[in-house]
This record gives sequence, C-alpha cells and structure tokens, in this order.
Amino acid sequence: MENGGESARRPGLVITIDGPAGAGKSTAASALASRLGYACFDTGALYRAVAWVARRAGVDESDPAAMETLLASVEMRVSLERGVTRIVMNGEDVTAQLRSPAVSQSASAVAQMPQVRRWLLPVQRRQGRAGGIVAEGRDTGTCVFPDAAAKFFLEADLDTRAARRHQEASRAGHPERQGEIRRHIRERDANDQSRRAAPLKPAADAVVIDTSSLTVDQVVENMMEWIPGRS
Ligand code: DC
Repeated sequence: MENGGESARRPGLVITIDGPAGAGKSTAASALASRLGYACFDTGALYRAVAWVARRAGVDESDPAAMETLLASVEMRVSLERGVTRIVMNGEDVTAQLRSPAVSQSASAVAQMPQVRRWLLPVQRRQGRAGGIVAEGRDTGTCVFPDAAAKFFLEADLDTRAARRHQEASRAGHPERQGEIRRHIRERDANDQSRRAAPLKPAADAVVIDTSSLTVDQVVENMMEWIPGRS
C-alpha cells in the first residue's frame, strides 16, 4: 500500500530539475521554489526512504522479488513542508535518517529496479496533481512529469560536484574524504546513466545549464527566463 499526503501550497505550474549528484539541483530547486512561492519536491528522498526500509527490514535491496514483497507491506506518506520533503514509512518519520553514505549507496541500488520505480511513480505524480511544485531528481522531466511546464537539466564538472557533496556531507555530520566522495559520485553516475529503467538523461525539451561557475542566483535567473509567464 502506498499513499502521499498533500499539503496546502500556492497553485501553479509543475517545474522539473534533473541532473547528476552535486550538480546543484537541491539548492537551485529550493531557491526557485521560494522565488515562485512553490513547494520543493526532493524525489531522491523517496528512493532513499525505500533503501532505508529495506536496510531496516534486513532485505537484500538488490533482490527484486524480495523488494516487491517488502513494498507490498509498506505505507509511504509524503508531505512537502517548508522546503522539506517529509517521509513517513509505516508510521515512522524517516526524514532525518536519509542522508548517510550507507543509505546513499543502497538508494542507488534500489533506483536501478523497475519494480521500485513503478511503485514510486504514482506517489510522485500525486504530489504534482495540484501544481505549484519544483520537483528535482533524475527522471522528473523524462518520466514522472513529462508534461511539466518547464524542464531543466543541471550539470557541473566532477571536481565541483565532489566539493559540493563534501561540504553537504560535513554539514550533515557524515564527513567523508573528498576522494571517497569522488569515487562514490562516479559509481552512482555510472549506475544512474546506464540503468535500463529511466536512465539519467536530459528530456528532449529540457534546458541544460552547466552550474560549475555560476552562483545560485545566476542559475535561478537563467531558469526564470524559461518559465512561462515569468520572464
Ligand atoms: O538525489 P539523491 O542523491 O537524493 O538520490 C538518491 C538516489 O535515487 C540516487 O542514486 C538517484 C536515485 N534517484 C532516481 O533514480 N530518480 C529520481 N527521480 C531521484 C533519485
């Protein structure tokens, strides 16, 4: 069983931001969402929550049949609150437990699985029903919200991405060496780009932005020019 809570938000468009880890999606998504008065939807948190529940249950997250059985007994509630994608799994709020390196690695594995992606599709689409969201992830423009009003794909060079993740991880209390982070990013990029189910790639109608040498404000200004009715 699955379902997703809806919280009040300003009505409006669905906007998507995809790209690899560390390209600046979360920062850009939250800045753009505040500028527009929209809710910010971190779809990666859903994959992380599925990974978390598999680890908690001791289920092998690379075993599709075991994952399918597990998901049949999981209730997932999602709510978008003040810039946070809050996730409650079987009644337990797991939001604060999703950023550890172990969960990141498991999330990358569960995201390969068509069963998991299929299960998460309606959960994600429900959040877009009322509009007024900036969704960020890997396939939000290609797969989850193909009719989004504006789609962006952010990129940045590997060194910039590793440095950003290093800062994020340190702030979250999970310091990792930058070399380790680089290696993990490379592995996750390879997983995300080569998987058969919804691989990481820009939608045909996405605007591609390289954020390596741009400030957040510059990225947001650039995006605003592409949002219908906002330039
Ligand atoms: O953005 P993130 O690092 O929190 O994402 C966690 C994992 O989930 C990552 O390996 C990519 C995957 N993911 C995905 O496959 N599709 C999405 N829409 C979002 C995330």
